[in-house]
Amino acid sequence: MLIATGVLSYPDAGPERSLRDLDPARLARAFAVNAIGPALLFKHFAPLLSRYERSVAATLSARVGSIGDNRLGGWHGYRASKAALNQLVRTASVELSRTRPGCVCVAVHPGTVDTPLSAPFAKAGLAVRPPAEAAARLLDLTDRLAPADTGRFLDVDGREILW
Ligand SMILES: NC(=O)c1ccc[n+]([C@@H]2O[C@H](COP(=O)([O-])OP(=O)(O)OC[C@H]3O[C@@H](n4cnc5c(N)ncnc54)[C@H](OP(=O)(O)O)[C@@H]3O)[C@@H](O)[C@H]2O)c1
Repeated sequence: MLIATGVLSYPDAGPERSLRDLDPARLARAFAVNAIGPALLFKHFAPLLSRYERSVAATLSARVGSIGDNRLGGWHGYRASKAALNQLVRTASVELSRTRPGCVCVAVHPGTVDTPLSAPFAKAGLAVRPPAEAAARLLDLTDRLAPADTGRFLDVDGREILW
């Protein structure tokens, strides 16, 4: 299972740059798509994972969802909803390790990928990968992970990211 939904900007607004931009409806939208949607995918698809064989439940999170790594601020709703997503993935991993001990349940930062989500924020000097390459690296990572890795927050090279 690979969960790849997410939203950063909306047709009527980009991510918040400052506290001044906070808006309840926009915050709720970020949480609905980035955290609640994936949580419901876990609810409905986790029962389909094998009880005994190795399985993978990888969710695309984002490094900016890291609280420990947050030095720039901004993007309040995206950061906070990805942090909530990380907690939901971690909580799911604890439960799945009991009911499906072969499951590898992780949150993964895919790197910066050339998609409609990142396009408005492209800047010179940033390593941006084509989607096909990013997907191949992601699958390479998930192939290498073992059940002992469950519950981790990793970049696509398998390096730990601070929660
Ligand atoms: N691109 C990057 O540089 C980057 C960096 C870090 C993390 N990520 C994460 O990687 C994941 C994939 O992003 P992406 O770059 O591939 O972005 P994308 O091309 O914009 O894809 C986002 C996906 O989320 C779905 N989605 C958005 N709003 C939805 C809604 N309300 N209901 C159901 N589905 C919805 C979209 O479905 P439709 O196609 O039907 O609209 C699309 O499949 C996201 O979780 C993102 O946060 C991306």
